[in-house]
Amino acid sequence: MTAWSDHLAALIGNTPLLELKRFGGRQTSPCRILAKIEYLNPAGSIKDRTAWGIIRAAEAEGHLRPGQTLVDLTSGNTGIGLAALAAARGYRAKFYLRASTSPEKIALIHQYGARTILIDDAEFLQPGAVDLIIDRVQQENPDALYTNQRSNPANPRIHFETTGPEIWRDTAGAVDILVSAVGTGGTVSGTGRYLKAQKPGLKVVVVEPAAGSVPTPDHPDVDTVEGVHKVTEVEAQHLPGNYDSGVVDAVIACETAQARLTARALARDEGLTAGPSSGAVLFAAAQLAARPENAGRTIVAIIADSGERYLSQPGVEGDRTPQPDPAPGLQRRSGAWSSPAVRTGPKPTYHGPLG
Ligand SMILES: Cc1ncc(COP(=O)(O)O)c(C=O)c1O
Repeated sequence: MTAWSDHLAALIGNTPLLELKRFGGRQTSPCRILAKIEYLNPAGSIKDRTAWGIIRAAEAEGHLRPGQTLVDLTSGNTGIGLAALAAARGYRAKFYLRASTSPEKIALIHQYGARTILIDDAEFLQPGAVDLIIDRVQQENPDALYTNQRSNPANPRIHFETTGPEIWRDTAGAVDILVSAVGTGGTVSGTGRYLKAQKPGLKVVVVEPAAGSVPTPDHPDVDTVEGVHKVTEVEAQHLPGNYDSGVVDAVIACETAQARLTARALARDEGLTAGPSSGAVLFAAAQLAARPENAGRTIVAIIADSGERYLSQPGVEGDRTPQPDPAPGLQRRSGAWSSPAVRTGPKPTYHGPLG
């Protein structure tokens, strides 16, 4: 029996769930947290699903011709997913991104042969900016297919058809709470709708930036998390069309620093390198896990992408410096170091990369 796929999109989805056993002192928690590891999709994020949902629908409806250009405004991951699929299916692609988008994401888009236009972050702070920028995207690319990830129903649909059913199947219906970030809202709306249809009592929780992590015209340089957007105190017409607030039961706020620290804790406690939006999601999941009413419940947290996509960001940069060994006898909190007895000799010296 052979076991290969004949097109890239066939590799999207069926991502694994990992129970977090050490993160945040899990051993003592009466609540289970399962991480859905979406960075194992072929182009590295949950947005591979969105990209495939959109391209699949456009092809089926006859809106795409060979060699045509796909165009959208993206915080990076949708662009990467679309660029990869465009390369594999014979299309071109061009994306408009914030100038502050992580250099790794921009480089990945270029690696797939797509083009990028960077927009000054300050432009996004004007009232109605996103709509104005989207008008510009369409005007500058009249022959391209505008993939419209913010309102294209193919985006939540693929999560309804894949992400939700996978979680339901892989937890054998045990999932009680879904936690997600919101960019376009496609993930939470599609997955949440599917899961609630199976289990009406299931709760859907989203994470948004706390007050200190939202840039304003007075404080434009606030450190933000890509893929984590405000959903409260935002006028309905400025929310993406794919965000279904009716499916969301609660919103938890997270500062950028908390998101970055949580992502780092996940890497050190569980060996999973998640991006900062997943750090924010896990920050919210840990808060939910600590509530007595959630004892015995199963939380599924969406790990949208990998921390490798953000290694050059300011909050992460210090990690590139080799760390000295801890002093003999000093053990890490989680006991990950070998026994102090074998560390009593001279400290090893760092000689550079070892592998
Ligand atoms: C890193 C990251 N996390 C989460 C999300 C949220 O996904 P969605 O657009 O489905 O709401 C996005 C999307 O922009 C993202 O890039």
